[in-house]
Amino acid sequence: MSESTFDPEVVERGDEGITRRGFVKVAVVGMCAGYAAAIGYPVFRYLNSPVEKAEASSAVNEVTLKDVDKLPKNSALMFKFGTHPAVLIRHEDDTWVALDAVCTHLGCTVAFDPASKQIVCACHGGVYDAKTGGNVSGPPPKPLTVFKVAVKGGEAKVTRA
Ligand code: FES
Repeated sequence: MSESTFDPEVVERGDEGITRRGFVKVAVVGMCAGYAAAIGYPVFRYLNSPVEKAEASSAVNEVTLKDVDKLPKNSALMFKFGTHPAVLIRHEDDTWVALDAVCTHLGCTVAFDPASKQIVCACHGGVYDAKTGGNVSGPPPKPLTVFKVAVKGGEAKVTRA
């Protein structure tokens, strides 16, 4: 009497045999690769994006803003300088100042406060001088970057200083 053994791990298909264990290994490896790609790609984009943003932002050297003559005195206009938010301020004495609007503390967007005539950061109370971008109070370690502004014919040309 011949002894036949049944191996539940082996599932034969035609001449080529594929084991259940082999199939499960391939399926698990495939799923792991899919999960790794699904998780890894956003992480890669997140880690890579500051470099791309910095490059894109530094590639822009000039921004033209139209109809700035309609901006009332002692008020400000937010605009984009490359990828960075920036602020154009028309002071009471009709002088113009443009500054990078990214707080040097932890990167919140700052705003001009017409009441105090200063630039304030709502995140941790940082305060900057609205004419020089210099630090007045709060945690920001450095002043805001100041841009050059030339206003002519209702247009403001803002360039890197
Ligand atoms: S991010 Fe502006 S004060 Fe902290």
